[in-house]
Amino acid sequence: MYLPESRLSTILVADDSEANREFLSEMLSLHGFHVVCAADGDAALQAMLNEPISLALLDVMMPKRTGFAVCRAVKSRPETRLIPIVLVTGLSAKEDRIQGIESGADDFLSKPIHTEELLARVRSLLKLKHFTDELENAETVVCTLALSIEAKDPYTEGHCDRLSKYSVALAERLGLHEELRIALRRAGTVHDVGKVAVPEHILLKPGPLTPDERKVIEAHPVVGERICAPLKSFRHVLPIIRHHHEKMNGTGYPDHLAGDAIPLTARILSVVDVYDALTTDRPYRKALSPEEALHTMREEVKRGWWDGALLEVFEDIVTGRISAKAAP
Ligand SMILES: [Fe+2]
Repeated sequence: MYLPESRLSTILVADDSEANREFLSEMLSLHGFHVVCAADGDAALQAMLNEPISLALLDVMMPKRTGFAVCRAVKSRPETRLIPIVLVTGLSAKEDRIQGIESGADDFLSKPIHTEELLARVRSLLKLKHFTDELENAETVVCTLALSIEAKDPYTEGHCDRLSKYSVALAERLGLHEELRIALRRAGTVHDVGKVAVPEHILLKPGPLTPDERKVIEAHPVVGERICAPLKSFRHVLPIIRHHHEKMNGTGYPDHLAGDAIPLTARILSVVDVYDALTTDRPYRKALSPEEALHTMREEVKRGWWDGALLEVFEDIVTGRISAKAAP
């Protein structure tokens, strides 16, 4: 695939040697890149924070801040962490490479720099960055869509945010793998994105729903899964979206799964989702207190709706937070 990377990309060249800056700058400009130069580590960091840098070539030994320190600072900030960094090291500097890897560098170039090698590295990293940016954009669109649906309903304000936090807390307490915790955080935001297909007069209807209206609402997990399916990074999120309305006795939807057949992550989100709904004001009732909500949910566990073991762990978290809040 043809990517017009050179015409769109700004490359930062940071080196305290003027001769090196000139050499790299001339060579990259000759190949169509836009180049920004910095003579020390502070200037390099400022450029990466304030300018649309697509990739940085950092010398390791620079005044004010080393290439490693710039790298660590850039990689620790969400807004800059995806900028690829190539550290330019001395030929035999094995320690430099180890320290570079620890600082989060994406690649290394040894001095003296060979033009073809440099161009190949730069092009391959820019291609990767282009795909990462696309992915980020797609995720942002889905999350924005989900939050705009939440914003339609004044009664659910902040619901997605609380869901993400509580689900992750529950997952942490259960020792779930980081991938699944990330999936739960994302699912907290996007689990109801399928409601985009539900007309507002049904979505916001205060009274009971007709059987046909219920059918439309109950399609939202499947629609949501379909919307997010093209996102590879959402593969662990998809089962949560699809199954967050299943019940332990098989009376939920859309697949009437029962017990352990319901993915654990979906059971976690269900518990948190129901708790948050109960403790929030609704058009037809006032919010329950945390104690009342947990009592209601324990009764619903007896009816075969929610995972009782998960509810117990969740109760620990919630009551822990309540007493922590009440403490002077
Ligand atoms: Fe839902």
